[in-house]
Amino acid sequence: MAGKLISTGLRHTTLPGNYVRPISDRPRLSEVSQLEDFPLIDLSSTDRSVLVQQIHQACARFGFFQVINHGVSKQIIDEMVSVAHEFFSMSMEEKMKLYSDDPTKTTRLSTSFNVKKEEVNNWRDYLRLHCHPIHKYVHEWPSNPPSFKEIVSKYSREVREVGFKIEELISESLGLEKDYMKKVLGEQGQHMAVNYYPPCPEPELTYGLPAHTDPNALTILLQDTTVCGLQILIDGQWFAVNPHPDAFVINIGDQLQALSNGVYKSVWHRAVTNTENPRLSVASFLCPADCAVMSPAKPLWEAEDNETKPIYRDFTYAEYYKKFWSRNLDQEHCLENFRNN
Ligand code: OGA
Ligand code: NI
Repeated sequence: MAGKLISTGLRHTTLPGNYVRPISDRPRLSEVSQLEDFPLIDLSSTDRSVLVQQIHQACARFGFFQVINHGVSKQIIDEMVSVAHEFFSMSMEEKMKLYSDDPTKTTRLSTSFNVKKEEVNNWRDYLRLHCHPIHKYVHEWPSNPPSFKEIVSKYSREVREVGFKIEELISESLGLEKDYMKKVLGEQGQHMAVNYYPPCPEPELTYGLPAHTDPNALTILLQDTTVCGLQILIDGQWFAVNPHPDAFVINIGDQLQALSNGVYKSVWHRAVTNTENPRLSVASFLCPADCAVMSPAKPLWEAEDNETKPIYRDFTYAEYYKKFWSRNLDQEHCLENFRNN
């Protein structure tokens, strides 16, 4: 049945039919490789030009990278992970108070991706929150566990700073002014998805999240340090991004692909399940202001002797976001709808 949480606390012994993917659309886990040269970037490095170059290479090649020494303390990260586990271990009755399958709600607990639209469901429950400005949303957030609001406020504030640092590096790595992104993206929104993937009886038949790209500007992912599941598509091949104990996984979203005029890619990624352990991830999404106009950065194409043309048309983030949620998650890259002819 669609629209039912799967984090029941009981182990599922069979996979319900609505989670079973057609044979042509299954994870084929034995064909997934390990990424040997996945970039690990030390944000405490004092050599700015090396850092900028590392970011450039990572964004151009993978659209994904990991950062260490990012400035968020181990303590707040551990607290975030434990309060998230505590949240999903609460009784079904307590959790259902927050349940909604309406994607326009700013705070909601849901399952799969977009249960009202999709034909096959995904083996995931998730809590979605808006985190900025905090005072506007914190009253909607779960009041259980009792420490939830305090921990998540602190965590999301600190993660926002990491995101801003990375946006500066990305701007510079494109040869733009350090505060280019900050200016263009306006007063950035911040959303959080706390993803919970219970052990799954048939990981070969279903996804936690099917292949998708993120519609926002930049994503900062905290992965469960012990359980693998994130995979990215590079040159047509799926690779596992296994957790590093002290790192955030950063990825370029569709908006930065547009701003970089396609130089940096918003890469397809997915989450797969396993039979043994629940997996938790906390995704923080930095989003342009609704009214921010996204367009390929002028300095990248405007010079007269430059043969590069802007490959995307101008659009507002509000327009983009509406389009994103009107589709299925695993359809064509949403940015394709915004190409210049
Ligand atoms: C997401 C996402 C990956 C994961 O929430 O957009 O890609 O590992 N999550 O949970
Ligand atoms: Ni994602």
